[in-house]
Amino acid sequence: MIPESFVQDVLARVDIVDLIERHVPLKKGGANYSACCPFHNEKSPSFTVSPTKQFYHCFGCGAHGTAIGFLMEYAGVSFPDAIKELAQQVGLQVPEEDRPDPARQAQSQSLLEITARAARFYREQLKGSPKAIDYLKSRGLTGEIAARYGIGYAPEGWQGLRSVFGEQYEQPALVEGGLVITNDAGRRYDRFRDRVMFPIHDQRGNIIGFGGRVLGQGEPKYLNSPETPLFEKGRELYGLHQARQSIRESNTVVVTEGYMDVVALAQFGFGAAVATLGTATTATHIQKLFRQAERVVFCFDGDKAGRKAARRALEASIEHLADDRAVRFLFLSAEHDPDSYIREEGLIAFQRALNEATPLTDFLLRELRSDLDLSTAEGRARLVFEAKDWVPRMSAPILRAQTVRSLADLAEMDVAEVERALGMEPGKKGRPAPRRLERQSVVTLTRQLLRLLCARPELCVQVPEDVVLLIPDDTEREVLELLRERAQSGTVISLSALFESQADAGRRNLIADLLTTSDEEHVGEEDAADVFADTFRTLRRNAVDQEIKALTQRSAVGPLNSEEMRRLIELQQHKQTLKSGQKPPV
Ligand code: GTP
Ligand code: MN
Repeated sequence: MIPESFVQDVLARVDIVDLIERHVPLKKGGANYSACCPFHNEKSPSFTVSPTKQFYHCFGCGAHGTAIGFLMEYAGVSFPDAIKELAQQVGLQVPEEDRPDPARQAQSQSLLEITARAARFYREQLKGSPKAIDYLKSRGLTGEIAARYGIGYAPEGWQGLRSVFGEQYEQPALVEGGLVITNDAGRRYDRFRDRVMFPIHDQRGNIIGFGGRVLGQGEPKYLNSPETPLFEKGRELYGLHQARQSIRESNTVVVTEGYMDVVALAQFGFGAAVATLGTATTATHIQKLFRQAERVVFCFDGDKAGRKAARRALEASIEHLADDRAVRFLFLSAEHDPDSYIREEGLIAFQRALNEATPLTDFLLRELRSDLDLSTAEGRARLVFEAKDWVPRMSAPILRAQTVRSLADLAEMDVAEVERALGMEPGKKGRPAPRRLERQSVVTLTRQLLRLLCARPELCVQVPEDVVLLIPDDTEREVLELLRERAQSGTVISLSALFESQADAGRRNLIADLLTTSDEEHVGEEDAADVFADTFRTLRRNAVDQEIKALTQRSAVGPLNSEEMRRLIELQQHKQTLKSGQKPPV
């Protein structure tokens, strides 16, 4: 193992701009350098390198990292080799490594490699399994499409992967990678058995996980890889790697719910489809998709679950809209999913349906008015009331203005009245009134707090311990702790070194996000004070609200005891104090 401190030393001496410039011609623009991304195919440059942050980031494909990461990705070398090469360039000597221990070496073999080997095995197995081939054929897939998506077959039997990994089958990495499960008796077995295997690629084409479908009937219908250091469901989209070219050409991406939807659409000639991985659409997904195309069409199943998924997608999109981007929703009839639709109706019909898909604002207004009687004053008032949770959060100013206008028409009010009712100051570039801050989700606030602390590490000491503990997201809380430790340790290591010191994918992603979004120059004292005040207040208020809610629910089951009553009254007092903006009671 290379000591952490040595990695920091190397990063402190290497200049990432120097390094990258040797491989990719960089152009200076403002504080940063830019180029066409070496990791994906593009015509206009979205790859940027920051000399101050010593970090690169591609807005096109999302690739990011330090000098070490660049060398690993670009030259395809391992972490230790990248360190060795960089150390040599800056005249440092890598500390003697411990005697190589074969067990450990096997253990440190990268998860990527293990996953790729498993995928190869599954592909091979498909060739020898007539029943799996028949199943795929019965679903209308050709060998060509199966190959394009790397579809395979996990054989029956408990330890199929043993034939690939041999002794290594016992290594923790196979469990860590989600391929093998250990039962209570300590015995290991393959997670995927007798299933058609859909490998999940990241944007660069690495296989990072699998989805496995039973052949025909059976439960569970799909089995997915668990979250692993490689695979985070809320970030990844199935089929994105294969769809990239089609997405670029059509400037459109279609988001479906299932592996089979993506593959079937490709089979019938529509290549620009991806799928969420058994999770709701996240804001990260939306941002990723908008980097690839101007038009995003959500095409979910025509059933009730599909409608719910559409609402979640609306929720995730609303804060990431832009006036030069379009989000639409295609609702298929109840008996269809995209797979069955294109199979029965064909490519042309599917494309026509896409063109006629419901724009986001229409869907939003339709949802808002769905249970309301707009022929009554109450119904119209309720419409505007419901819109308060949505419209002010729309991030595209022109589109937001259009929506306000439509809302005004429906509500039979004038635009200024609606804006006031929504808490938006009339006329002022649709800028939301201060109350928006209070309405802002906790997520946005805590993220803002983290950005601030990255830009101004000295402020870390001012974050009270109780507030840290109230941050709902584990990764955010962990990273905040890291930032605090870093600020207290005296030797402030760079954020890029902090990034490099983390093995956990969630923490790495968050730090990378902070690196690319935090901006030292734009944080004044007042902004800082505002962010602190808003975040602390909201977090505390949420905690109080939640405890009150829990106690109230508890009281529905049986009377509260005196201790619980006392607590409830205390909480309600806290809540009042927080509302009035005073300092919270200790
Ligand atoms: P086919 O029946 O093969 O056409 O699949 P589908 O894509 O139509 O499946 P469905 O609409 O039922 O599910 C959509 C997605 O949800 C799948 O691609 C999976 O990612 C996920 N999913 C479906 N069933 C299960 C399940 O039983 N367990 C888990 N974990 N995920 C599932
Ligand atoms: Mn289906």
